[in-house]
Amino acid sequence: MKGYVLSSLLALAPVALASWAEAEGKDISLSTVRGYFLQDEDSTNPSGFDYINWNFGLLNRTYPTDARFDPDHSATQWQRFERWVSYLNNGCQNDGKTRFKVLVLGRHGEGWHNAAESFYGTPAWNCYWAVQTGNGTAHWDDPWLTPAGYSEAFKANTYFRQRFEEHGMPFFDSYYTSPLSRCTVTANVTFADLALPADRPFSPIVKEGFREGMTVHTCNHRSNATYLRSTLPSLRFEEGFTEFDELWHADENETDEHFAHRAKEVLDDVFATDDGAWISVTAHSGAITQLLRQLGHRPFRLSTGQIIPVLVKAEVIDPTPTDDYVSYTPSATCKSPPITSNAASGCVCTPTPTPALGL
Ligand SMILES: *[C@@H]1O[C@H](CO)[C@@H](O)[C@H](O)[C@H]1NC(C)=O
Ligand SMILES: *[C@@H]1O[C@H](CO)[C@@H](O)[C@H](O)[C@H]1NC(C)=O
Ligand SMILES: *[C@@H]1O[C@H](CO)[C@@H](O)[C@H](O)[C@H]1NC(C)=O
Ligand SMILES: *[C@@H]1O[C@H](CO)[C@@H](O)[C@H](O)[C@H]1NC(C)=O
Ligand SMILES: *[C@@H]1O[C@H](CO)[C@@H](O)[C@H](O)[C@H]1NC(C)=O
Repeated sequence: MKGYVLSSLLALAPVALASWAEAEGKDISLSTVRGYFLQDEDSTNPSGFDYINWNFGLLNRTYPTDARFDPDHSATQWQRFERWVSYLNNGCQNDGKTRFKVLVLGRHGEGWHNAAESFYGTPAWNCYWAVQTGNGTAHWDDPWLTPAGYSEAFKANTYFRQRFEEHGMPFFDSYYTSPLSRCTVTANVTFADLALPADRPFSPIVKEGFREGMTVHTCNHRSNATYLRSTLPSLRFEEGFTEFDELWHADENETDEHFAHRAKEVLDDVFATDDGAWISVTAHSGAITQLLRQLGHRPFRLSTGQIIPVLVKAEVIDPTPTDDYVSYTPSATCKSPPITSNAASGCVCTPTPTPALGL
């Protein structure tokens, strides 16, 4: 499994969208532009941060485009920010080698695997329960949301509605989601029944690159494409998306290097193929951590249902060769429920009886 080229596995060609001609055959350098969102500020504590208290974190400030766009000071913060982002992309200072996008990254609502990890404790979860498909009452092979998880998605739905209707927040040009049901269901609820413009419908593109770190845990195994569409009828699949999951391995974890590469690759893909500036992504805790790292954003861990916006600058640069890396490594677990699971002693597997030697 050494160093295969990721793009040959994940067919990254997009659903018919425009492409960035200047980026053709080049590399793309991505960075977070600070000074626009509270989450970028070193003084903001990510722990307990709730977008609902802060207009998604949009800082109250002026932009150089305000004077001409809003001479009578009647526009909202979001409308003035939208105009500034549009100027950054389309103003005559832009030579076509730079693109700006506002990525609004949402973590799915609480899933049954999250509830089960709390229920069993992390050590026992990791060494036994997480590789099962469920426990008889709860199911966590590609889990759905718990009632608390649905509440988080309803909360986001109400907040987006209010931002769009009362605060002039721009509608998204495109939506993307991870191919795990907890994300497609979260997106479905989050963007349900909003009065969206006809040319920007809620019709998310599912990309393998946005899925969670592919550990041996069954919650990281995805359902078949037919089933996923039933969780979100307007779903579109990136070109080459396979009916069945060919990326998850029951006995091997994806390496950090592979995870980091695919996070960069999916971001490059979005920047190179999507002309929109306002982008919604529904993904996971680990996946968003990787995306933020690739964007040079400071660490900002999201709890379930939380959402973080980032203004991203992408620049075309000369290509640099990349090294080979290992993509998956083996991972073993207990064969039956463990004896103990607590922070002090960790997980202790129940010993498997040694078969008596027949004479
Ligand atoms: C900006 O001001 C509004 C209105 O006072 C407030 O609700 C919002 O939280 C402020 N945003 C930030 C990021 O401080
Ligand atoms: C199964 O796990 C869920 C948490 O996801 C828990 O609420 C439930 O009680 C567990 N069922 C059994 C039989 O232990
Ligand atoms: C697709 O997934 C659904 C839900 O897990 C399952 O019921 C169905 O049998 C699967 N289809 C195929 C062809 O395996
Ligand atoms: C997704 O949304 C559609 C349209 O609102 C709805 O009919 C469907 O039941 C939803 N599916 C889920 C899994 O919530
Ligand atoms: C594989 O990933 C799981 C989940 O993060 C972790 O518990 C396990 O220790 C990992 N295995 C190895 C060999 O690192």
